[in-house]
Amino acid sequence: MSGITIVGSGRYLPGKPYTNQDLARVMDTSDEWIRQRTGIEQRHYCPEGQGASDLAVPAARLALESAGRTEADIDYIIFNTMTPDHILPGSGPLLGAKLGCPGTPALDVRSQCAAMIYSFQLADALLKTDGIRSILIVGAEAHAGFMPWRNWNALDGLEPVSADDYQRSTLHRGFAVIFGDGAGALLVERSSTPGTGLLSLDLHSDGRYSDELRIPAGFRRRPYATSELVEDAEFIPRMNGREVFRHAVSKLPQTVRAACERAGVGLDEVDWFIAHQANDRINRVVRERLGVPPEKVPSNIRSYGNTSGATIPILVDEMRRDGRLRAGQLVCFLALGAGLHWGAAVMRI
Ligand code: ACO
Repeated sequence: MSGITIVGSGRYLPGKPYTNQDLARVMDTSDEWIRQRTGIEQRHYCPEGQGASDLAVPAARLALESAGRTEADIDYIIFNTMTPDHILPGSGPLLGAKLGCPGTPALDVRSQCAAMIYSFQLADALLKTDGIRSILIVGAEAHAGFMPWRNWNALDGLEPVSADDYQRSTLHRGFAVIFGDGAGALLVERSSTPGTGLLSLDLHSDGRYSDELRIPAGFRRRPYATSELVEDAEFIPRMNGREVFRHAVSKLPQTVRAACERAGVGLDEVDWFIAHQANDRINRVVRERLGVPPEKVPSNIRSYGNTSGATIPILVDEMRRDGRLRAGQLVCFLALGAGLHWGAAVMRI
């Protein structure tokens, strides 16, 4: 495999950051617990009335600008999200319309936090198709809608939290403290530099573990939404944090080794291991199991929390803009998310 290269990137984080202390107003948690268990200090939330496609617009425009391209150059949109604007349609066509390139083919990818690895595979294949030169890959998430607290003014410290709300949010604190909202965008094209591109992929999905992280509501119900289902928190994620953690620290080292072996590169030859930002502790264990030095595993979870499908493009954008990520480097991307989906991609950028 060869060909794909990142020619532009952008990111967008909505509104002001919410600190761990802010969260401790609405549920039984603490700054110390969240920092120690996850490495997260703050996160952003999508404003009411906006969706993933709205967060994606500024990120996509920055990606186009940094590549010296315009909306008219986009031949295909791949939209990674587990929190689409609507149950249907997906957010991809909304983004095309909002960017001013209606009619551009747009595909939503539903592989949660592992979506970027799947998108690299899709983009690589699509770039071999006649007439497709530039692909916009976006990861954007608006998790705010499934946060367990009902009173956002209490989070802002403008109103006291009710005892009922506090108890309800505390029930869901395990997942609620880790997720944050944001968007990252990458513009990818076929490279003319020999040796550049996707060198290997190792991808997996296993629905046997789907109940470790899921939103229970769905079309198994008639009707699929009722006030009782909302009351019973069927629209709020159920996450078995310990099990997801256990899967991540065993499957991610395996997939990284498999992808590097397939690419014919040693772990020591890789310049960067760009990992999904779910929890700093997960990435530390994965790094230790691989025997990789900490400086090769960048992290930004402190500032944004887990933005699911958006973490990798946001991190890539930061690294391109501050000069860490440069043409010619060898990068291994790795991620695991609900599904379960997981995998790694080795790319010479
Ligand atoms: N604040 C304070 N205490 C808490 C919190 C909280 N936010 N959450 C849980 N606790 C308590 C628990 O009640 C428990 O108390 P107990 O011992 O008295 O029963 C204790 O802390 C330990 O709870 P665990 O759930 O075992 O905590 P753990 O160390 O596993 O950390 C965490 C939880 C951070 C969620 C961790 O399991 C994790 O990160 N897992 C991976 C999650 C993940 O990666 N999810 C995203 C996947 S990507 C995707 O597809 C979206």
